[in-house]
Amino acid sequence: MAELTSEEQMAAYSEAVASGLYAKRTGLTGKYDNVRRYWEDEITRSRLRGALLKLLKRSKGLMRRLRIMDLGCGSADGYELLGGIRYRDPDLQGHEVDILTPDVLGLYKGVDLNEDLLNQARALYGHNPKLVFEQADFTQGAPLASDEKPYDLYFTSFGTMSHHNRDASAVRLLADIARRVEHYAVIMCDWLGRYSYEWQTLWTHDPKQRRNMDYVVSYIYEKEEREAQRAELQHLNLRLMSRPEANDIITRASKRAGVTIRPLDFFDRSTLVGRHLDTQEYNPHARPLRKAVNSLHEANLRTDLHSLIFNYVPKPGFDFLNDYFEYLQMCWNRLVYYTADLLTAYDPKDERFGGDVPDIPASYPEPLRDMMARMRHVVEGVGWLHVGLPRENIIEPQLGYALRELVMALQQGQGSAHGLVGIFEVDRDDP
Ligand SMILES: C[S@@+](CC[C@H](N)C(=O)[O-])C[C@H]1O[C@@H](n2cnc3c(N)ncnc32)[C@H](O)[C@@H]1O
Repeated sequence: MAELTSEEQMAAYSEAVASGLYAKRTGLTGKYDNVRRYWEDEITRSRLRGALLKLLKRSKGLMRRLRIMDLGCGSADGYELLGGIRYRDPDLQGHEVDILTPDVLGLYKGVDLNEDLLNQARALYGHNPKLVFEQADFTQGAPLASDEKPYDLYFTSFGTMSHHNRDASAVRLLADIARRVEHYAVIMCDWLGRYSYEWQTLWTHDPKQRRNMDYVVSYIYEKEEREAQRAELQHLNLRLMSRPEANDIITRASKRAGVTIRPLDFFDRSTLVGRHLDTQEYNPHARPLRKAVNSLHEANLRTDLHSLIFNYVPKPGFDFLNDYFEYLQMCWNRLVYYTADLLTAYDPKDERFGGDVPDIPASYPEPLRDMMARMRHVVEGVGWLHVGLPRENIIEPQLGYALRELVMALQQGQGSAHGLVGIFEVDRDDP
């Protein structure tokens, strides 16, 4: 496929907006499905919490409010994501739980190349003078005017950094940002993970041979519509990223800026729930696990727990990945089977487990044991409720959270999921 310019690639986003399916609707499909809201946004929030608290402590100490730049802001989704970061998951009594309250936010500036998305953002937030939106191409360097005050947090999300098809432009952007830091700033980079199971056919031992993938925006349609529209589907060139490649970009940007950009955290996001697992576009063995997890989190909807079971198919020659995914699959499936056994064993009339409750072997990995024990408490705690659909509305969402905790405990931040996220700091006072 011929290389597309950044402008040409914007057609993909415009089409998505025009389809109406890019807007908020059900939790089972679309851009804001349950996985996005209860897994992806929440995982990013919890991983960014520490850095945000540090930023806030510094800015409060200087009697300043926080300035945030969201690069590739789309319709200002980052504002919602960041606004939802909590001090911790609150207990039953607490009310004041948000970190980024209006009194500590100075400015949120959203930058995007796509005017349709910017207009959506303006329609949603244009009434708030603390939110400004500007069209700019971040492959041409940091969109910072020479007299513009620097920002505390430079944020990207959902694979936005993968729009840098050439590493030179990512290096330039990061170096521009680092150079403008006066004292301290945090940068979050979100790329597509090179070794996600959903595109196993693209795995390579030589990343230079396949830097970018031809990413077809087919996931927003249901299967039949997707096939009917195949010829018209929009494509993006997106950079696939592994941890060593990300480190290389950061090192080059540090050198270019003459200031250290220091990694604080790397994590794999959307493990086993990337959108293309459901489409099978790049892996014929993929199973629609995102659809199954979406169902777990959907109110009043009973999920067939077998839809969560999958059989990892290894790729010869990639033992380091095969071992990881095999382990993950065994842990994931075990938790699902165990929960199904608990549901069978629980007797709601007697309000206790009637049949045999399987034990939790001490040989199992700790995160798995913890999540199995949690599911036992959940089933025991609410299985007798009768009204309010305890399985659909409490037990299944809790299984969703338990699977999320499990994959996050086992992830390695190497690019083995849909998203590879790096959180970095630039500290001029501690170079
Ligand atoms: C994967 S979307 C993420 C959108 C949004 N941040 C979110 O969380 O849903 C990537 C965004 O980057 C924007 N984008 C792509 N290339 C760009 C460029 N060269 N300069 C500025 N924005 C760009 C797209 O228009 C799109 O809104």
